[in-house]
Amino acid sequence: MTVEIDKLQKKTKKISNFEILKHFTNPMTDVIVYNRIDSTNTRAKDFLKEGKEPPFLLVAEEQTAGRGRHGHTFFSPESGLYYSLVIKPADMNLAIQKATIAAAVSLQESIQTIAGISCDIKWVNDLYLNRRKIAGILCEAPRNHDNTVSGIIIGIGINIAQKEFPEEIKDTAGSLNRPDLDRNELAGELTNRIFYWIDHLNDSALIQAYKDHSLLLGKQVSFQLNETTITGIATDINEEGNLIVQAEKVYTLNSGEVSLLSW
Ligand code: BTN
Repeated sequence: MTVEIDKLQKKTKKISNFEILKHFTNPMTDVIVYNRIDSTNTRAKDFLKEGKEPPFLLVAEEQTAGRGRHGHTFFSPESGLYYSLVIKPADMNLAIQKATIAAAVSLQESIQTIAGISCDIKWVNDLYLNRRKIAGILCEAPRNHDNTVSGIIIGIGINIAQKEFPEEIKDTAGSLNRPDLDRNELAGELTNRIFYWIDHLNDSALIQAYKDHSLLLGKQVSFQLNETTITGIATDINEEGNLIVQAEKVYTLNSGEVSLLSW
């Protein structure tokens, strides 16, 4: 009997637009759920091209061609949450890096609230738990022919309960390990928080929240510059969301990948 109850409680609840909508504090009603799709970010781009008006949210149980930053793929089997929120902020010129910072803080806070798990944020777009990457963020602002932007896509992939990963990421990827987690509630909470932080991008509390959960600050890191590896200490994240690294001189990084050399 105990075993049966345990099994029931661990069963992952399906994602549904009705269930997500229940958790919204914003009046956004356009939520589209896919059982399987190539990529919610790619579909979001297509929708924008077709003239669909933001805000809207695409969520999938599984992706067959999930995309990450720098042309990486994002492993997206069932039992994750694949999420693309398309917004039209008042300031369409807002820096994608700042939107990524807002998304990372929103995600960290949502996981803390819904799952009671405290993750670390690895500059600029990854969440880590127990030294393993459990989520990634890909923000995009696709350009129209006339160089205007119709919407900003905030794409987030979260490993909720995956246990097995492909060879290339098996030593670095992990999950929240919570098959019981209500992904509808998480998607709702995340959306509410993203809308809040996108409206407060210049609030110093945003960078403070990001820094409070930073995996890199105070640690030894390395990065590539013109085919040279630079090693230094990550000392700060500035108001624009740039990472400050003290090496033989001070570097201000606004993109690229940084490796953590000592945990
Ligand atoms: C990264 O790790 O570099 C970012 C990963 C972003 C993955 C999410 S999953 C939902 C959305 N659709 C995609 O194809 N990518 C983003």
